[in-house]
Amino acid sequence: MWKFANPIRHQIPETRWPSAAEAAGSLLFQPITVGQLQLSSRTWVPAMVPWRATEEGFVTEANLDWYRRFAQGKPGALVVEATGVRDIPSGPLLRIGHDRFLPGLRKLVNVVREGSGGETKLLIQIIDFLAVRRRPEERKFFERFLKITDHHREAISRLTAESHWTTASESEIREYLTQISPETWPQVLDERELESLQFGYRERVTDTELQHIADLPLVLPGIFAGAAGRAREAGFDGVELHFAHAYTMASFLSARNTRSDGYGGPRENRVRLPLEVYRAVRERAGNDFTIGVRFLADEVIERGNRINDATYFGVEFARAGMDFLSISKGGKFEDAQQPKVGQAVYPYTGKSGYECMPTTLSDAAGPFGRTVPLVAEIKKAVNTAGFTTPVVATGGIGTFSQAEEILQGGAADIVGFARQALADPDWFEKVRLGLGSAVRRCTYTNYCEALDQAHKQVTCKLWDRTELDDPEIVFAEDGRRRLIPPPWRR
Ligand SMILES: Cc1cc2nc3c(=O)[nH]c(=O)nc-3n(C[C@H](O)[C@H](O)[C@H](O)COP(=O)(O)O)c2cc1C
Ligand code: SF4
Repeated sequence: MWKFANPIRHQIPETRWPSAAEAAGSLLFQPITVGQLQLSSRTWVPAMVPWRATEEGFVTEANLDWYRRFAQGKPGALVVEATGVRDIPSGPLLRIGHDRFLPGLRKLVNVVREGSGGETKLLIQIIDFLAVRRRPEERKFFERFLKITDHHREAISRLTAESHWTTASESEIREYLTQISPETWPQVLDERELESLQFGYRERVTDTELQHIADLPLVLPGIFAGAAGRAREAGFDGVELHFAHAYTMASFLSARNTRSDGYGGPRENRVRLPLEVYRAVRERAGNDFTIGVRFLADEVIERGNRINDATYFGVEFARAGMDFLSISKGGKFEDAQQPKVGQAVYPYTGKSGYECMPTTLSDAAGPFGRTVPLVAEIKKAVNTAGFTTPVVATGGIGTFSQAEEILQGGAADIVGFARQALADPDWFEKVRLGLGSAVRRCTYTNYCEALDQAHKQVTCKLWDRTELDDPEIVFAEDGRRRLIPPPWRR
């Protein structure tokens, strides 16, 4: 986990919960229109990957249990985890890149309808990502993965002051490289090779010398459109285009995108593919389907997007006709920590990762609502441009008063509760009924995120070891944790 230099341990703030009457009169519990949907309240559970799909990307019983449990709390909207748009193996992450995934996704829609009594609107977040390989063993990297070029021959020749290396065979070069010390690597390997060795090979949208990367603008609109069409067919109320964090579409939006084919460079070019994807999705899914986007208020990395980029994108997304803008922050590969050998780099281990899921070990500003001022700027820019597209604020929001203040102050239209909903999916019902004091409050210390990083089934430390004697419960693969929180006994 990334840490500030002199971190301050913040406490979960004391809070006063509203009575049922106060909740009923609050903005948070007023309905709001999002595209074609009427949400019963301005509460939102953002996407969270729980690592419960099959290796082939199908919905499992554990997925159904998970989303049913969230639905029982009756948030206004629930966004299903990042779900892959392509028909390619991607481990136990949900997929929607082929019709064979439809039966499972239909079941998921049904359990949420049943669980919430039809109250919670259900969206699915659709994502594309590029290849990320595990960090290799050094020997294997030099013996097998590194593509040997004359650049290496010349570098070794310079390093050793021995000219015969310029004509050395590939195997001689490989053999030599396995012998040299890590301090010498930068003199022989270029920046990308060094990164592949130290972090694992990772594709970028700027690798246009690779045909499939050059072709992304040709193929992605159709792939996203196919996924959105399936989401509609499965019965979802809408889709959220995942244009945030470390993944393909966020990389197109990034100020680091220097593609020279009209899809990189200035902001107008960087937003071009995201808008083309949106239009293709709209065309396929129809005007009566709700289509929104998640994107970043700030990438937090050096040379990355800042709030001025985000306000520009927000206005362009609203102008194009998107139905909501859900704002996140950070979560990038560029500043991630080095993974262990055999593990893949995880985009939530650097400062940008901290900003995405802030913890109570923080700077003076603390972890609560630290993205809200940026969300307010995006909303202001969108509204000033003449659009009323609802904006969702998320990040360290766990109490009613925080949420209500955000809405009353006009910083956002809807409030997202990710980890707080994971800690207690009944938050919404408890607060609505005036029983807020029964809320199990998230401590924002990221046990759940550590499980996500380890690709383990995500649970919360506040409930995963409670009431383990209940014969009904389903355990995690480690046999020690329950997979969903116990029912709320009023
Ligand atoms: C376990 C876990 C999985 C997550 N998976 C996703 C995801 O699939 N897509 C996404 O956009 N954000 C994902 N997030 C980020 C959350 O949606 C949210 O933005 C972040 O946790 C900050 O909000 P919070 O403070 O309310 O938790 C995930 C967060 C957690 C803790
Ligand atoms: S594990 Fe910790 S950070 Fe995650 S939801 Fe539970 S209390 Fe919150």
